[in-house]
Amino acid sequence: MLSLAVLSAFIGVALAAPASRSCVGTISSLSDIANATQCTTVDIESFTVPAGEGFTLSLLNGTTVNLKGDVAFGNLSWAGPLFTISGYDITFNGNGYKFDGGGPFYWDGLGSNGGTIKPRPMLKIKISGTLSNLDIVNSPCQVFSVTNPGPLVIDAVNIDNSQGDYPNANSSGLPAGHNTDGFDVSTTDLTIQNSVVKNQDDCIAINRGSNINFLNNYCSGGHGISIGSIVSDVVVTDIVVAGNTIVNEDQAIRIKTDATATNSTVSNITYSGNHATGLRKFGILIDQSYPATLGTPGNGVIISGVNFVGPESTFSVNTTAKRAAVNCGAGSCTGTWDWSQLTITGGVAGPENNFTGITGFTF
Ligand SMILES: *[C@@H]1O[C@H](CO)[C@@H](O)[C@H](O)[C@H]1NC(C)=O
Ligand SMILES: *[C@@H]1O[C@H](CO)[C@@H](O)[C@H](O)[C@H]1NC(C)=O
Ligand SMILES: *[C@@H]1O[C@H](CO)[C@@H](O)[C@H](O)[C@H]1NC(C)=O
Ligand SMILES: *[C@@H]1O[C@H](CO)[C@@H](O)[C@H](O)[C@H]1NC(C)=O
Ligand SMILES: *[C@@H]1O[C@H](CO)[C@@H](O)[C@H](O)[C@H]1NC(C)=O
Ligand SMILES: *[C@@H]1O[C@H](CO)[C@@H](O)[C@H](O)[C@H]1NC(C)=O
Ligand SMILES: *[C@@H]1O[C@H](CO)[C@@H](O)[C@H](O)[C@H]1NC(C)=O
Ligand SMILES: *[C@@H]1O[C@H](CO)[C@@H](O)[C@H](O)[C@H]1NC(C)=O
Repeated sequence: MLSLAVLSAFIGVALAAPASRSCVGTISSLSDIANATQCTTVDIESFTVPAGEGFTLSLLNGTTVNLKGDVAFGNLSWAGPLFTISGYDITFNGNGYKFDGGGPFYWDGLGSNGGTIKPRPMLKIKISGTLSNLDIVNSPCQVFSVTNPGPLVIDAVNIDNSQGDYPNANSSGLPAGHNTDGFDVSTTDLTIQNSVVKNQDDCIAINRGSNINFLNNYCSGGHGISIGSIVSDVVVTDIVVAGNTIVNEDQAIRIKTDATATNSTVSNITYSGNHATGLRKFGILIDQSYPATLGTPGNGVIISGVNFVGPESTFSVNTTAKRAAVNCGAGSCTGTWDWSQLTITGGVAGPENNFTGITGFTF
């Protein structure tokens, strides 16, 4: 039989560890972070992150983060990222509060291609678990980069960079926002759903990875739902793009692979129930000549299993836009692709389809 002293010492040790972590840590400045992240509940109050500094949360497993107010990021030209979060089994509740990236301070129409150095990405997500109900306004450049270490669901995130559609004093008449990709994704086991992306580049760009679902989102202003550009030595497989609404974008769906890429594969890509209107350039574009558009394609990326299953996807393109273009390298698009659940209306026929394996669709 255990003595009372040993028993109570045992209980004391057993309680000590969880007790110290089940506290609520509160962040209202960067100097609070180290202490607050010793707790498995972290509340973030409204504050302004000093210009030129990143807001970085490295969390204990199982932490719940509650946003309790808006966070603004100070304005300074530097590399970024503005916000980084890492940890396993994290629940991040944005509660509808916003992160303001100060975009107009940086925007010059050049994005990450030149001009002012812009902090990017705005948010670097390295958690498993869920991230939900967060509003993002005015990212300087790319918005989210996602490399989750385990399954992650991003739900009801609202990105509004629409102010960047207009020129400003520094953009020489171009839309001021540029390269404002909503989600740049190189990962496995990720679902992004019920979210809104108003921007000037890809709504999502899937660069590598597997088991990625993009469901019931709304994209407007940008370049559509993209796979790629695909570089050498990567695999993209088991991707589902379903139930999305795409409005006033360059194209609804694009797969682009670098002309010079080798040893990569893109396979088992399923589209269903996506609806697009006001497309400016193409309904769908599959192009192996990137960075050219419909240039001489390479054949080092093998694409297979690109299918449109029910419910039907409907794309309506602008009068001068092309309905569909498929530009494959010799032998690098393979198998049979079922496009019977895709209908594209308006515009003009695409000039290209040099892959004979597409069934159920008339170019
Ligand atoms: C550290 O966090 C705990 C739990 O929230 C809090 O009670 C304490 O005041 C904090 N200490 C400092 C120095 O901020
Ligand atoms: C946190 O979770 C990861 C993934 O499940 C696990 O590998 C790691 O050991 C955990 N860390 C702690 C301190 O429990
Ligand atoms: C950064 O500049 C932009 C554009 O002028 C402004 O909207 C934003 O409020 C500024 N951010 C801060 C934290 O001052
Ligand atoms: C915009 O131009 C003003 C002066 O015309 C300059 O002070 C500012 O740094 C420029 N901003 C960017 C983002 O280039
Ligand atoms: C081809 O790519 C895979 C990753 O998908 C990599 O593991 C492998 O080493 C690459 N092969 C060559 C010959 O580079
Ligand atoms: C294709 O991807 C879907 C969704 O991830 C998955 O359920 C299915 O098993 C995959 N098909 C094959 C043949 O791997
Ligand atoms: C083409 O689409 C854009 C937005 O995507 C729209 O503003 C424009 O009016 C459309 N043009 C035509 C000719 O339909
Ligand atoms: C597709 O067209 C391009 C450009 O004319 C050509 O280089 C390529 O070999 C063609 N691919 C096939 C599969 O015919």
